[in-house]
Amino acid sequence: MGERDAFFSRCSEVRGTALSYSNPLIINHFDCDGLTSGAIVKIALSEAGKNAKMLTVKKLDGNVLAEAKAHKGEVIFVDLAGACKEVDEIKDVIILDHHQTEGGKTLQINPHLFGFDGGDEISSSGVAYFTFKMRVDLGVVGAVGDMQYPLIGLNREMLEEGIASGDVKCEQNLRLYGRGSRPLQQMLEYADEPFLPGLTGNSEACKSFLEQSGLGGAPASTSFYELSQAKQLSLINFLVSHMAERGHEKTAKSLIGEVYTFPKNDIKTEMYDASEFSTLLNACGRNAKAELGISVCTGEFGAYAQASSLLATHRKNLREGMKFLSQNRQDFGKFYFLDARGAIADGIVGVVAGMGLTSAAKKPIFAIATDENGAIKVSSRANASLVKAGLNLGMVLKAACEKCGGAGGGHRIAAGATIPKGQLDCFLCELNKLL
Ligand code: C5P
Repeated sequence: MGERDAFFSRCSEVRGTALSYSNPLIINHFDCDGLTSGAIVKIALSEAGKNAKMLTVKKLDGNVLAEAKAHKGEVIFVDLAGACKEVDEIKDVIILDHHQTEGGKTLQINPHLFGFDGGDEISSSGVAYFTFKMRVDLGVVGAVGDMQYPLIGLNREMLEEGIASGDVKCEQNLRLYGRGSRPLQQMLEYADEPFLPGLTGNSEACKSFLEQSGLGGAPASTSFYELSQAKQLSLINFLVSHMAERGHEKTAKSLIGEVYTFPKNDIKTEMYDASEFSTLLNACGRNAKAELGISVCTGEFGAYAQASSLLATHRKNLREGMKFLSQNRQDFGKFYFLDARGAIADGIVGVVAGMGLTSAAKKPIFAIATDENGAIKVSSRANASLVKAGLNLGMVLKAACEKCGGAGGGHRIAAGATIPKGQLDCFLCELNKLL
């Protein structure tokens, strides 16, 4: 159990400092958690009458640090910098983060400094929510986007506050993608997490499945969320039996779980459902449209339509990435390795690696891609049982980078690094030793 009082008192201290700035610069990470937490800070400052500048980045490198220094103070790092010692050299700076850190001189709100695990019980969006006490929906979306599922610990507290205020709903329901944003037939036909045997990719089979389950008469555009509760339940039962009859009982069970929705958002958009909202934001951030992601969060007119068209490309890239992974993943004994240089963009290689590692996998995966400077971007992912057994990918990557050059870190379950182009052999040898 972490030190709750000290955590919340640090939240107030950070809020007070942030609101005292007159010309703040927010530097935030480009993934879903970084966008939602950055947006919460931006909205809080704007409500206090401050027009903060925003710089959304892939990683904290020398160029970003130089920009932070050039701003001459009043910098707010969000979802990064927690473990970066150079930040201490900047004047007037605060950090909101959840990556592993031992802290430094800079004022920082980070669960790890108070005995909470930033890997699974609160992400940066939750940190930003508790600091400014606003936009609980974004708080939940960031956590789900960072694979903190189901919501436990401080995330659960945030969820309960959201339920009490009527902003969030939590229920056991179907976890298929598109339950709000796709017509029923498409939801089944395009299902890829998991694949639905006999249905995925087969429009005729999906059509007759819906007819047999008594939903043939529903208008073609009806989504799962638009069905009555009784009809939702009947479709779930039908789907579970369909899977069980084909010997996929375990997968059938994984179709149901806790689902978080936002009753105040439009039921026909991805923004109604935390998981779909997080994919929408990842589609923006990880495809060089971070500003659009922030505009979606702040509710700017027209932003959703643009983001939603980007989403189709993002999901296509993920599908192609998954296909590449299934054909090219290598087993290196202590870990899986995927050389995706030239095949998968560095912005999404981590997402693909995560999607490609099952909860039953006995070893982690390390995937590499090429970044915009020609260096090697590494993304690693584990699962809950590997972490429970003691694996800490953030520490592994930090240590490997100390030996081979580059910079790395992150969480126990998901971490990343950038290493020089010629250091791959050294890096792989180090992984072998460390694991
Ligand atoms: O880039 P990727 O998605 O693989 O990163 C996984 C996690 O590791 C993210 O939370 C990211 O912020 C973190 N990370 C880090 N330091 C790095 C690279 C990634 O803390 N140098």
